[in-house]
Amino acid sequence: MDRYLIKGGKPLYGEVEISGAKNAAVAIIPAALLVDGVCRLENVPRISDVSLLLNILEQMGATIRRVNRSTIDIDCSQARQTGVPSELMRKIRASYYLIGAALGRFGHAEVSMPGGCDLGARPIDQHIKGFNALGAKVEVEAGMVYAKAPDGLTGNAVYLDVVSVGATMNIMMAAVLAKGKTTIENAAREPHIVDLANFLNSMGADVRGAGTNVIRVYGTGQLTGGAYSIIPDQIEAGTYMAAVAAVGGEVLVKNVIPKHLECITSKLQEMGVTVKDLGEAVLVKRDGPLHRTNIKTMPYPGFPTDMQPQIGIALCLAQGTSIITESIWDNRYRYLDELKKMGVTVQVDGKTAVIEGVTGLTGAPVSCCDLRAGAALVIAGLAAQGETIVEQIHYIERGYEDLVEKMQGLGADIDYLLAPVEPDHTSNLRAIS
Ligand code: UD1
Repeated sequence: MDRYLIKGGKPLYGEVEISGAKNAAVAIIPAALLVDGVCRLENVPRISDVSLLLNILEQMGATIRRVNRSTIDIDCSQARQTGVPSELMRKIRASYYLIGAALGRFGHAEVSMPGGCDLGARPIDQHIKGFNALGAKVEVEAGMVYAKAPDGLTGNAVYLDVVSVGATMNIMMAAVLAKGKTTIENAAREPHIVDLANFLNSMGADVRGAGTNVIRVYGTGQLTGGAYSIIPDQIEAGTYMAAVAAVGGEVLVKNVIPKHLECITSKLQEMGVTVKDLGEAVLVKRDGPLHRTNIKTMPYPGFPTDMQPQIGIALCLAQGTSIITESIWDNRYRYLDELKKMGVTVQVDGKTAVIEGVTGLTGAPVSCCDLRAGAALVIAGLAAQGETIVEQIHYIERGYEDLVEKMQGLGADIDYLLAPVEPDHTSNLRAIS
């Protein structure tokens, strides 16, 4: 298993280019199933979650062509609802988007219950409620979701009981080829919801109101191909901003939409970090002490739960006591146990973490328990004195393109610690026989 070796204590200086948004890409790629033609996707992040989804689509009969480093062509005109090993689908949370996309395209879907990071209970009842409202019958049996709409899908009104990113996008996907109008009330408003709607509209769909809490989808007969560029990753950008806050230095974070970062920017500013909006970039600088603050995670435009661990590290190094309230997931503080090994003082009680700021961290061997927790441990390693080894980095590679290379570009002392190569006994056997 590969690991990272970090020698911390060096402030970050320079420029970093943000990749395409993971949570937009992992919805838009399954949505390509709805398109009868070639979708050219630009600004696609090179991360393992994207590779997995492309692999799944290929196994469903899609043709995938890499045009360049960040551009791919996906042609799902010959795709069918069959043949994807469930182990593959279970590796990724976003495989649930295949239910909405396959229902819309084929009128039926068979998909494993989604996997992904263990952030606590991750139900899909709101997705199912939406599919039912459109006329599908959905059964969950032995870890599989079976959805069927023998008479086709018909638009309807869906009121979500909780604001769910996944359910909002999944219902949108099922609705674009349905007959008539679908209204999603209490919809999520994250930037990736707007991105999915823009992608679908650029392929010929009629989705209105994305970015507000009421989305209207007018079903169209067919989606044809086109080209679409995925938005920059809000959370990747926020991760580098939080790194500058925790480690110190001055970094130009490029290829961002500053509006999407406002919820993160305002918290960093409260903490004494300078953040300047430069249009398509933000300049982040921290050279003084960090001030304490409180954070409550909320659906967009509130503070994103996916930034809670990264900003948590900065709070560990702030003067005074900070309180985090995690209101989206019930299992998102496990990284704090790892951080105790590095000298963090924290008490967790249910959804609340009380952090007493310390003046410094000490390097230690730590292990990632999920994607964003992994990013937080890297930031902690960069801020700490001495050596930190980060294990289970496959979690990080699910969602961060070239994290090591990008951090190195900012002057960080971080590198891969490759696993020793196992002796190849099979080649010996071949030589003997
Ligand atoms: C997506 C993101 C994830 C992020 C989360 C919240 C992807 C692939 N993942 O996850 O990184 O942390 O949004 O911003 O985009 N819920 C229900 N019933 C449902 C669906 C959700 O009760 O049917 C609850 C969840 O338990 C959670 C809350 O709603 O408490 C929000 O979940 P949701 O927005 O659906 O998260 P995901 O789409 O799974």
